[in-house]
Amino acid sequence: MKTLSCLSLSGGQGKTSSALLLGRLLAHQDYRVLMVDADPQANLTFYLGHEVQPDAPTLLEVLKRQVEMADGIYPLVYENLYLIPADESLHKVQEYLATSGMGALALRYCLETMAALFDYCVIDSPPQRTQICLSVVGASDLVLIPAEASTKGVNSLLLSLDLLEELRTSRAFRGQVLGVLPFRDKWFGRSQATDSREAITAMRQVAGHIPVLPSILESERYKQAIRLGRLLSEMGHADLEYPLHQIIELLRQA
Ligand SMILES: Nc1ncnc2c1ncn2[C@@H]1O[C@H](COP(=O)(O)OP(=O)(O)O)[C@@H](O)[C@H]1O
Ligand SMILES: [Mg+2]
Repeated sequence: MKTLSCLSLSGGQGKTSSALLLGRLLAHQDYRVLMVDADPQANLTFYLGHEVQPDAPTLLEVLKRQVEMADGIYPLVYENLYLIPADESLHKVQEYLATSGMGALALRYCLETMAALFDYCVIDSPPQRTQICLSVVGASDLVLIPAEASTKGVNSLLLSLDLLEELRTSRAFRGQVLGVLPFRDKWFGRSQATDSREAITAMRQVAGHIPVLPSILESERYKQAIRLGRLLSEMGHADLEYPLHQIIELLRQA
């Protein structure tokens, strides 16, 4: 099992959208995929149509080892796709991770027990540098950094790269950065909006040897696909899936 996290240290950068679309596409390609919602905002859980029942285990109980790992994994309506869900109570795991002495590796240890059952694990991460976030990085073989094609996105990329560097130095992160995914790249016909172009140029400079991948364009169609739980190709927009296929190709090679 290869574990990929979508990480970016602010809100609205496309973490949940890219995790969701990638997971769905991988599952559609017949890979067995485990999705992990590691954000207490639980947007991924919501978009995947999973409702957390009262007293049903979520990532909180899994990380605290209060339940067997398998009891925190739920099948979804989509074939080959499984979820460890979250709800707002996930924030309670912070203190446990901070004091358990193995915070950064807690999620990695949990996921290792499931490695034989899945081809890919895709993790959605919280927008802040919390203990949960450190645990996500510690569990990642590969990290994708979505970043809005804007000044805020460039800043988010900078913060994310700093965090990864720091965790690499402390050996909590032993994976590889797959690439930077520009998100909501604006075009008017054949011309790219100036702020998008400038932001993506800045991302290239900041990213150094890390590849800046083909962008997710600003488009209602992605939002529709997410809302309706459909693939872009099923909706007749296979062209918009191109950046996701590129990521999957890199994942295969990694
Ligand atoms: N291609 C797109 N163009 C415009 N908006 C988008 C696109 N894809 C997703 N969105 C919207 O952008 C917002 C932020 O995306 P999200 O993935 O939730 O970011 P994050 O998880 O980093 O906070 C969401 O409301 C989502 O519906
Ligand atoms: Mg999110």
